Amino acid sequence: MMLRQGFVREIELPQIHDPRGDLTFVEGGNHIPFQIARVYYLYNVPVGSERGGHAHRELEQIVFALSGSFRMKIDDGTTRSEYWLRDPRKGLYISKMVWREMDAFSQGAVCMVLASHRYDEGDYLREYGDFVAALGGEKR
Ligand code: TYD
Repeated sequence: MMLRQGFVREIELPQIHDPRGDLTFVEGGNHIPFQIARVYYLYNVPVGSERGGHAHRELEQIVFALSGSFRMKIDDGTTRSEYWLRDPRKGLYISKMVWREMDAFSQGAVCMVLASHRYDEGDYLREYGDFVAALGGEKR
């Protein structure tokens, strides 16, 4: 079984390589499939910590490891997969209605997320059963 088509994919951003340090940039509507409404980041994450554990009704996101690494576990309601994020240039696009969990944070890891909407608690599905029920109500 495949993950629902296009629901999760890697997005590689440009990199300006330079002996003084590498530079990567992202432009809303150009490199990514939505206009950026919000940016947030996780830091000071204790090793052993687990984050996520929810899906979103409408939110689309792209997740980056700006420093260090962590694991992203993905579940589209049918199939589970996992991705290791460790390259600041490579983001993981996650569409709406995808369950995600994050763990295995390295010491000093920084996770940056580009989001298609502002924060809205009403957009979260925080119970797995609610996620599955909401999927069932969607045309697949
Ligand atoms: P949550 O999305 O559950 O974190 P994660 O998925 O990374 O484990 O958010 C944790 C808390 O932070 C929750 O109380 C909501 C709040 N929050 C905001 O106020 N604004 C935001 O943009 C985000 C992402 C979270």
